[in-house]
Amino acid sequence: MLINFLKKSLKKSHKVKLMIKKKLIKNAKKIDKFLINYLKKQKTSLLVRPMKYGIISGGKKIRSTIILDAGKLFNISEKKLINICAAVECIHSYSLIHDDLPCMDNDPIRRGKPSTHIKYGEASAVLAGSSLLTLAFEIITEKKYLVHSKIKNELVRSLALCSGHNGIAEGQELDLKFEKKKKNINQIIDMQKKKTGKLFNFCLYAAATIANKSEKEKKLLSSLGEDIGLLFQLSDDFLDKKGSSKLMGKPVKKDSKKGKSTLLNLMGENKAFLYAESLKKNILNKLGKHGKNAKELINTINFIFERKF
Ligand code: IPE
Ligand code: IPE
Ligand code: MG
Ligand code: MG
Ligand code: MG
Repeated sequence: MLINFLKKSLKKSHKVKLMIKKKLIKNAKKIDKFLINYLKKQKTSLLVRPMKYGIISGGKKIRSTIILDAGKLFNISEKKLINICAAVECIHSYSLIHDDLPCMDNDPIRRGKPSTHIKYGEASAVLAGSSLLTLAFEIITEKKYLVHSKIKNELVRSLALCSGHNGIAEGQELDLKFEKKKKNINQIIDMQKKKTGKLFNFCLYAAATIANKSEKEKKLLSSLGEDIGLLFQLSDDFLDKKGSSKLMGKPVKKDSKKGKSTLLNLMGENKAFLYAESLKKNILNKLGKHGKNAKELINTINFIFERKF
């Protein structure tokens, strides 16, 4: 009996994992297509090649999947979300291009290829990164994107707040300043919520904003998004220690060499795992009120917790 039950649930969890991988690939293709078309329509420039190199054909585009999954909480059509996905991927890829620079993490490989600065040189990488940052705002404010201008205004403002000196940029500054320093749990969580959590915060906030939800609901979803981002960074830190560089498409075992302040380095594997597990449970509990509409988002969160890439 018990063996049959275990076999059945293993089969089911294998099937779900496969479905999530398929969903990620399908969404990544969709966003790549949107970005390729968008860049094609632009006046050409020298920076377009390093920009494309840094953003297209590579990366899980998991933030886009989170946005589309969050859209399902409120029955929002994909048409209303695709510009937001593309904008978020622009910000994310910009942050990675800069993160790999010699003045930051100094990593030569990203997404299984030479990092943008290795391929095109540092100056072009800095400029292509900055151009992806501004492209995000162009994409949201595009005339053809059919959401009300009041909503666009709110989205632009929120994305700017999540990316700048109270968001990703500050998180990256703290990450570098914390190298080889003894920092406590709260300081590390604050840094990780900024460098990674804030963009996930925006993903859920954007869905709630497009769905015209109340301020209270938007706040709840923002903080849930930030926790999902923290969980994502915790699994990235684990994968740096235990993962395969082939699957990850980037060098591994570099955080401890650089003296990065991570929860894993501070607490050790067991405690950090328990922390991540209880964070995940908390997130899933909070999604309970959305019932069946949260199914896709829950699957993606489980993937984040168990991922190998
Ligand atoms: C890597 O992000 C950087 C972190 C915030 C941990 P991803 O793991 O989403 O990178 P890609 O886009 O799939 O390459
Ligand atoms: C990067 O964190 C977070 C960003 C916002 C760019 P990491 O430095 O750990 O990301 P990887 O491991 O290089 O992808
Ligand atoms: Mg870094
Ligand atoms: Mg890095
Ligand atoms: Mg990392």
